[in-house]
Amino acid sequence: MKFLHLFGSNNPTFDEIEGYEDIKDIVLRALESEESFNLLLWGEPASSKTLFLLELAKQKGAVFFDCTNTTSRILDVLEQERPKIILFDELDKMGRVSQNQLLNFLESGHIKVNQMKRQYDLTIKGAKVFASANDLNKLSPPLRSRFRRLHLPKYSKDQFMKVAVKVCPKLSKDTALRIGEEIWKSQGDIRDVISLSKLVKKDDGPEEIAEIINTLAKYGE
Ligand SMILES: Nc1ncnc2c1ncn2[C@@H]1O[C@H](COP(=O)(O)OP(=O)(O)OP(=O)(O)O)[C@@H](O)[C@H]1O
Ligand SMILES: [Mg+2]
Repeated sequence: MKFLHLFGSNNPTFDEIEGYEDIKDIVLRALESEESFNLLLWGEPASSKTLFLLELAKQKGAVFFDCTNTTSRILDVLEQERPKIILFDELDKMGRVSQNQLLNFLESGHIKVNQMKRQYDLTIKGAKVFASANDLNKLSPPLRSRFRRLHLPKYSKDQFMKVAVKVCPKLSKDTALRIGEEIWKSQGDIRDVISLSKLVKKDDGPEEIAEIINTLAKYGE
């Protein structure tokens, strides 16, 4: 195993994430580096982007920002906590003002901003910034260019079935595969697998599962 030497040194294991061993390797390498690094995971909904960031949020010295919420806190948190691992979930939902404020920081680790009668002037050396986004077009070109970008495409059927088994730990593998198969057929995503799995009981067979799916489809939009 390529990154075995990292284990035991408090690095994330990404146990909850099925697949993407290659991306896990890149993330671990970025963490190990003494240099700063900005990595953006972007693409399909329900492709484990937030899961990656939440795993990194468990690291010492990490801060997690949900950019769909107000982002005026970002500068305060950077100033007070001087985090070495900075996580921006849904970066494409961050307002333009904040996007612009971060440009310098992402380039040099230095940020100097006047905001609401306050002046922020700080430097964090060697920070790692990990972000997620659905739509790259909502990021300004300069912000986009500051990240190494990795695209998470739609799951293949094979991957989808493996993830389905992973997200249904309470059900038998057969049942999880049946749910995965049905959701795949109806072009749903992994979140649909999870919500359906909550309605399925351990001893439900194919008919019961099909009936639940029919009812959800009948009254769904
Ligand atoms: N590869 C995977 N391994 C384990 N669980 C996964 C995987 N992909 C998706 N999931 C599950 O699907 C759900 C959605 O994943 P997540 O929130 O990480 O998606 P996302 O890529 O951030 O989507 P969005 O773009 O809509 O924010 C989570 O419950 C997650 O556990
Ligand atoms: Mg997400």
